[in-house]
Amino acid sequence: MTLWQGRFGGSKQSEELLTLTESLSFDRRLAPDDIACSRAHVLGLQRSGLLSEEESGMLLAALSTVEEELAEGSFAFKPGDEDVHTAVERRVTEIAGEAGARLQTGRSRNDQVATDMRLFTKRALAEVARGVIALQEVLLERAREAGDSYLPGYTHMQRAQPVLLAHHLLAHGWALARDVDRIAATRRRLDVSPLGAGALAGTSLPLDPDWVAKELGFSSRFENSLDAVSDRDFVAEALFDVAVLGTHLSRFGEEMVLWSSEEFGFLHLDDAYATGSSMLPQKKNADIAELARGKTGRLIGHLTGLLATMKGLPLAYNRDLQEDKEPLFDAVDQVERILAGMAGLLATATFDTQAMARAADTPSSGAGDLAEWLVQQGMPFRRAHELVGGVVRDSVQRRVPLPELVAAHPALGSEAVALLEPGVPVSRRTSPGGAGPGPVAVQIDRFAAVLRADADRFGVKRSGSATAHGTRGGGHAPGTRAGSRESQAPGLGQEPADAGALGPSGTD
Ligand code: ARG
Repeated sequence: MTLWQGRFGGSKQSEELLTLTESLSFDRRLAPDDIACSRAHVLGLQRSGLLSEEESGMLLAALSTVEEELAEGSFAFKPGDEDVHTAVERRVTEIAGEAGARLQTGRSRNDQVATDMRLFTKRALAEVARGVIALQEVLLERAREAGDSYLPGYTHMQRAQPVLLAHHLLAHGWALARDVDRIAATRRRLDVSPLGAGALAGTSLPLDPDWVAKELGFSSRFENSLDAVSDRDFVAEALFDVAVLGTHLSRFGEEMVLWSSEEFGFLHLDDAYATGSSMLPQKKNADIAELARGKTGRLIGHLTGLLATMKGLPLAYNRDLQEDKEPLFDAVDQVERILAGMAGLLATATFDTQAMARAADTPSSGAGDLAEWLVQQGMPFRRAHELVGGVVRDSVQRRVPLPELVAAHPALGSEAVALLEPGVPVSRRTSPGGAGPGPVAVQIDRFAAVLRADADRFGVKRSGSATAHGTRGGGHAPGTRAGSRESQAPGLGQEPADAGALGPSGTD
């Protein structure tokens, strides 16, 4: 069935056209949203007197049958089903007869697909946010148990100053907190219903877009019908959010790759979260972390691809816009896998805190502390920097241990040399937000509070204490939300159980 046969006589569509233009192979994933959209539309038509109660009842019953058929996998797609909207309308018409012919009254696939996509994006982004929160919970737990362990902090990949392991882990946690916040903002902006915009200009029929918007759980309706059917900013924003999130996961992944190398030796991966080599028996590889890095290239590609698709489009709907779906679907699927993989990797890995301390405890890592100690003796910082730099240079050139030179220096001496003792430099990072034990204790509490608030706004069920998560040496990784794969199967994609907790405006 085509939806426009009136204009086209009886001639058959070419194979080439069908192959190029079909979107059913991927947009069937929108079926739950398409059915929700149609239900609201039917109720709206009935309210406006465009459908009798009986017709509306028949259409709603047919939609429920279609929903069941899709859920149990018995829905028979037909060769002419160009997209999910066509397939659902065809089947509804088969079931409901004449009433089915009234389903598309006052509606176009243009406002329909925009509505479906907004419903999908809203839900999918919430799911991604929950995956981020699960990873943040692992970061928090590992930060808490890291205690006073410290490692070198790096700039330019050169050892700079020791930092607490908890501080380093939470640096990634805060980046992820911004991702959650960005997702919340994108969801708030996309929470606008395009339904009622029609093909591009609205309709002569007495529809009530405000009412259907509310019925669908949107916080408002479109203001301009042309904009409503051609706007895909929300998809681009979702792709941006996922690309930035991916970039954070990629950087984190890169560190896990480095830390688990023999050169660093900071991290030992659990066997369940590492891979081997088909040729080299000794190998243990951090493929999860590498794919966090590798797949992010693809996430960035999806964003740039969609922006390129959109940039030349005149108003209003153009078929190019069909290209919004595959990047979005793939982006959310891939990032969810990365999130779950990284959460599992981190939850089960073992930190070698002795190797970390060994790397951090080189005397020169206290050079900054020597300069600051001189400042406290009244020396201008630039002078102190120069003085300490000279002593370090001396130590390197003459191969004399730095503490020896510091102890012998007239401006430094025994009080100063104590600053170079193992563990001392990190204990002196006392300023707010800094890397030492005092500020990190404050930071952990603040991070936990932000995480709790984010978990609430995204309807994450409390797992009780953080120790409910898998720990080293086995157990289930957090974030591997069983069932999330199935819910993405074509034609299924049920609302997550707690999605109702996300009111249209109660999400942030
Ligand atoms: N499959 C189309 C899409 O995803 C649905 C809208 C088609 N509209 C049209 N006028 N051909 O964009």
